[in-house]
Amino acid sequence: MNKLSAVGHPTVILFGNEKGGTGKSTLAMHLAVLLLNRGFMVATVDLDSRQGTFTRYTGNRAAYAARYGGNILLSTHHIVSPSMTPEEGKLEFNKVLDELAGYDIAIIDTPGHDSALSHFAHSYADVIVTPINDSLIDIDVLGVVDPIKQTVLRPSHYAERIWKARQEKARRCGSSIDWIVVRNRMSQLHARNKRFVGSLLDNLAKRIGFRVADGIAERVIYRELFLDGFTVEDIAALNERGKLSVSHIAARQELSSLAMALGLQSRLEKAHGSFGGKVDLEGGTRIGPFK
Ligand SMILES: Nc1ncnc2c1ncn2[C@@H]1O[C@H](COP(=O)(O)OP(=O)(O)O)[C@@H](O)[C@H]1O
Ligand SMILES: [Mg+2]
Repeated sequence: MNKLSAVGHPTVILFGNEKGGTGKSTLAMHLAVLLLNRGFMVATVDLDSRQGTFTRYTGNRAAYAARYGGNILLSTHHIVSPSMTPEEGKLEFNKVLDELAGYDIAIIDTPGHDSALSHFAHSYADVIVTPINDSLIDIDVLGVVDPIKQTVLRPSHYAERIWKARQEKARRCGSSIDWIVVRNRMSQLHARNKRFVGSLLDNLAKRIGFRVADGIAERVIYRELFLDGFTVEDIAALNERGKLSVSHIAARQELSSLAMALGLQSRLEKAHGSFGGKVDLEGGTRIGPFK
């Protein structure tokens, strides 16, 4: 039995979608830094180390902090190699889970394809965040849409994956998984497509049991900070380098609202109820320890 079944385990937030390029790694990194800056102890876990975006992003951040110092908060990063057999992968993942004890939050990034390790990890999540592009191709991963009636016919393979993960978790420890879909890279234009995708998602949400968070817009700022390991949350560092813009303010609001949608405040209060501390996800600081 690993430590996630014991008191004091972190809230596990997993970024998943069996489709690449939807923003899993980008949003995982942004959320990790947002939560670090709000005073949480954050561990990050890369299950997509073949691509390695999350590992390189956190590595670039650590390298920047080592080079220039400043108030650059870092997560404790773990990598689970995909080159193992499924059994070895599960063993390795369990070892990492043991090391997560004592952290407030663990953020897991997964590959955009099916794998035994990723299945296994999904069943350990408290919250699964699935970013999708605002496109019918991305909706197709979640549910099959009738082309004539333009209504949802049935859940697709990734929805079935989550359903199985929910069953496995319920069997193992009796608790549930909160599934949140977030529309990423939303365009300011194409209002008709946006409305259509929105109404299909609302329809699917009821059928297969997820919540829809407010969307994240397409912004250059989400792409250009990777090499320094920054996110839009690193206001002081960005200011120093003359990289602050109005776009950051809007982006920070989007991320803040995603963090609020995850329901972490109540989750942490429930998990660490004996302490009864308070975390201000809207931008304040953490008051008191959570462990
Ligand atoms: N909101 C956004 N605005 C602009 N570009 C984005 C946004 N989110 C992600 N990207 C870009 O989209 C691409 C895919 O993102 P990534 O996080 O690597 O996706 P995934 O991990 O799902 O494969 C990257 O080039 C990334 O910089
Ligand atoms: Mg990725």
